[in-house]
Amino acid sequence: MRSMPRLTLNNGVHIERLGFGLYKVPPKDAEVLVTTALGEGYRRFDTAAMYGNELGVGRGVGGAISDAMEANLSTGGSGESVHSLAREDIFVTTKVWNDDHGYDATLRAFDTSMANLGLDYVDLYLIHWPCAGRGLFVETYKAMETLYREGKVRAIGVSNFQPGHLEELMQKAEVVPAVNQIELHPWLQQTRLRTLHEQLNIRTEAWSPLGRGQVLEDPAIVALAEKYSRTPAQVVLRWHLQLGNLVIPKASSAGRIKENFEVFDFELEDTDMDGIAGLERHHRTGSHPDNVN
Ligand SMILES: NC(=O)c1ccc[n+]([C@@H]2O[C@H](COP(=O)([O-])OP(=O)(O)OC[C@H]3O[C@@H](n4cnc5c(N)ncnc54)[C@H](OP(=O)(O)O)[C@@H]3O)[C@@H](O)[C@H]2O)c1
Repeated sequence: MRSMPRLTLNNGVHIERLGFGLYKVPPKDAEVLVTTALGEGYRRFDTAAMYGNELGVGRGVGGAISDAMEANLSTGGSGESVHSLAREDIFVTTKVWNDDHGYDATLRAFDTSMANLGLDYVDLYLIHWPCAGRGLFVETYKAMETLYREGKVRAIGVSNFQPGHLEELMQKAEVVPAVNQIELHPWLQQTRLRTLHEQLNIRTEAWSPLGRGQVLEDPAIVALAEKYSRTPAQVVLRWHLQLGNLVIPKASSAGRIKENFEVFDFELEDTDMDGIAGLERHHRTGSHPDNVN
């Protein structure tokens, strides 16, 4: 049963507001972390061909679904909780890597990702980086439009696209990207891109939503955590949710996985949202899109 708050993408597909990120999760750990997260109530997972852990993610997802089938068989269909999950209860995002830009290469990369994941379809397929120097992101996106029309992906989108990249894509694409996944946290608030996304009906998804842990030490965040009797990570995730961002925090322990999910039962006051808006430092924890090719 789904209880996680969701948003609707521009093509009508529903997406859980909070998912689990798997960058830098070793392949051997991915299956167990996905299983742990499913047990805590997560229903959305963000991986990429480049992360090298699609196999483990697919095993974690596939395990929950086959557990459900076994439970249903043994109980006559009355399996419950994580044991009653169907494929459509779980949302999986993966991404095409930079070396696979271009129409044919993207179709081949997608087949490899699907084989690794062991799934019949992917919920959201993203271009990982625009790699403007390669000059191939429009062709790459055209391949994704083909996959979308064929029903192999439920939604398509982009990641790390700057305003100029989005404008070029919008002139040539037939399907408006559902999502732009960008680095976004209190030290890098991406105000211009968020405004543009709203105008274009594209959802903003925050990668490194916790600033890779760095922003959790900001004294203003620590003070808010004390005020609300929450942890710094919960305050930052709550800020994202109140801004309307999709979020995909990564964590390596069951305790943090659980902590990061417990953010739907409190609300930051407007003055505190304004206070966090004042923490902008234009500080990146990852690469600038212009420097990735
Ligand atoms: N599209 C892109 O180019 C792109 C780039 C980067 C990331 N992403 C996606 O975004 C996801 C999240 O980004 P991220 O992994 O870079 O960074 P993040 O989620 O902002 O931060 C993860 C870091 O914060 C720590 N952490 C997590 N929960 C915590 C808590 N409750 N208290 C204290 N520390 C906590 C983690 O430590 P432990 O792991 O030790 O628990 C880890 O070091 C990725 O996993 C990936 O799916 C996408």
